[in-house]
Parts: sequence; structure tokens; C-alpha cells
Amino acid sequence: MKLIDYGVREDERPYIEQWSKENNIEVKIVSDLLNPETIEQANGYDGIVAYQQLPYDPAIFDKMNEYGIHVLSLRNVGVDNVPFDTLKKNDIKLTNVPSYSPTAIAEYSVTGLMILLRSMKSMIRKVDKHNFLWAPDIGRELNELTVGVAGTGRIGRAAIKIYQGFGAKVIAFDKYRNPDIEKQGLYVDTLDELLKNSDVVTLHLPSLGKGNTVINKNTIAEMKDHAIVVNTGRGDLINTQDLYDAVVSEKLYGAVLDVYENEVGIFNSDRSNEKLEDQLLSNMIDNPRIIVSPHIAFYTTTAVKNMATISLNSMVDELKNGTSNNEIDIN
Ligand code: COI
Repeated sequence: MKLIDYGVREDERPYIEQWSKENNIEVKIVSDLLNPETIEQANGYDGIVAYQQLPYDPAIFDKMNEYGIHVLSLRNVGVDNVPFDTLKKNDIKLTNVPSYSPTAIAEYSVTGLMILLRSMKSMIRKVDKHNFLWAPDIGRELNELTVGVAGTGRIGRAAIKIYQGFGAKVIAFDKYRNPDIEKQGLYVDTLDELLKNSDVVTLHLPSLGKGNTVINKNTIAEMKDHAIVVNTGRGDLINTQDLYDAVVSEKLYGAVLDVYENEVGIFNSDRSNEKLEDQLLSNMIDNPRIIVSPHIAFYTTTAVKNMATISLNSMVDELKNGTSNNEIDIN
């Protein structure tokens, strides 16, 4: 068996090399993303592993079929950039890594919230300039707040545990209820009810498709005054301009955004020597009440190792047994 792993970052490489050695399976490591040009490098391999934020071009899958490669294993969870219809047409199976470290993301979302609640963004900026005044950066206490967790999958549930540890009141919403959360009596019946009753709304949902936002001018109008939005899920869950306007007008207290609807091509790139073309992003970065980070909630050694190795294990299962626990239903 010979595998090829695309879009590999330097921080992932050692885990892939170690897996290759331990499993005695050849893995060609490629830093290029998977696209209609680079797919040629996969000719002669049995399976393709990849991670990228850019959409996977349909032409890739026609080529895979031509090369006799019928499995693509992603190193991440989100499959919103994969054209299922072209996969189906070419009889290609897809796997993802549904759970690489829910705690990494849950811990980060709480960290972002604490940074906001304790005014750390503007405090750090002040201290950097040797301004040691307290005011106006007075904090708010998490234990006094109601946190609304939208999405009670693994990440949402990990977040709930942490918020409960802080003594916050937690309410939750999910279309598919989890028995443990149900037992604790945390569920409200609708997303509207969650939005109306939360001081903090934290999103742990997958993308609902372009234009299907959870946070927008209409839903913000329903939210409590001075509420906070935390998003470590997907950027397109929020109409970002509406959210920004609501923070500027002080309807909302602030926001923690580790994902952004226009992040592809910007996040995880170094733009330190250029002016940002995206004025909204630039405005949000300037705003002390908006904590922006470049999609790093997942970025821990544990998660990166799990993404690298679980994707390879799923590929082996697919190639040996024709199926794996992490196969995505593309039908
Ligand atoms: C995903 O796993 O889909 C993520 O959003 C994390 C990604 C940046 C590796």
C-alpha cells in the first residue's frame, strides 16, 4: 500500500513520518494543496489524504478515478468544501476525522470569552505602551452569566463541562438531543429561545450552508442587550457585518471570532507587511471588544497528531476492509 498526503504543514510532518514507520506503510508527504495540477503526483498511489480550506476542485476526482484511486481521507472534520456529487460520480469514498480533540476547541472558546470578559485585548495593548491604568477596562464575571451553547456534539458538550466548572448557568440547543444534556435539563426548545435568554451565545455547529446564518441583524435584535457571541465553528454561521455593527452600536458587548466567513486565503498566512484589503476584518481587529484569531481553536499538539494519524488509519481501513468508522455518507 502506498499513500500520498497533501497540504502537509511542517507541524504535521513528524506525526505522519512516525505513523509511516510504525505501520510500515509508505506515505509520500506533499506540502502542495490538492488541485487539478498537483493531483498528477498521486498517480501510482492507492489513497489520498489531504487537508485544505480551499474548495476541492471537481476535476481532482475525475483524475483520481482515472488513476484508480477511490478513497480520499481528510485530516479535518469539515467536509463543506468537498463536491459530493463528483465523488459519487467517480465512485470515491470520503473519510474525515470527526473528533480529533473536542477539548482543544472547547478550551479555546472559553479562553476567548475570558479574554473578552476581562478586557485583556485592550489591557495588553495598554501595558505594551506602559500604560498601567485600570479604567476603563473593568471586567465581567463568567459565573454570573447564562451561557447558551448552540450545538451539543462533542465540542459543545466539552464546552458545557468547562462553563459549568466556572459556575455559569448553561442552557443548550440542538436539533439532535444528547441524553446526558437532556438528563441535566439544559435544553431549551428552540434556537430563538436560546438566543433570547443567553448572555453568551457560543456556536458549536457545522456550516448550515451559504446564507443560512444563525447570527444576523434579525436574530441579534432578539438577543439580550450586551450579549456576547463566540464562534469557533464556521464563519458562515454569522453575518459578520451585522455582528460588527451590533458591537459598534453597543447592542452587543462583543464577540470572539476564531472563524470568519471570508477567512479562506487569509487565515494562516503572514500579511504583516501589507495593508489588509478586507476592511471589515481590519475594523474588527482594531475593535477592543472583538477578539479575532485565525482559526486556531483546533491548533494543539494533541489535535494535530490525531488529525494526522486518524486520517491515515481510516484510509487503511477503507483500503483493507472497504469501509471505516469515519466514512462520510455522501448520498
Ligand atoms: C476542521 O477540522 O474542519 C476545522 O475547522 C479545523 C481546521 C482549521 C483544521
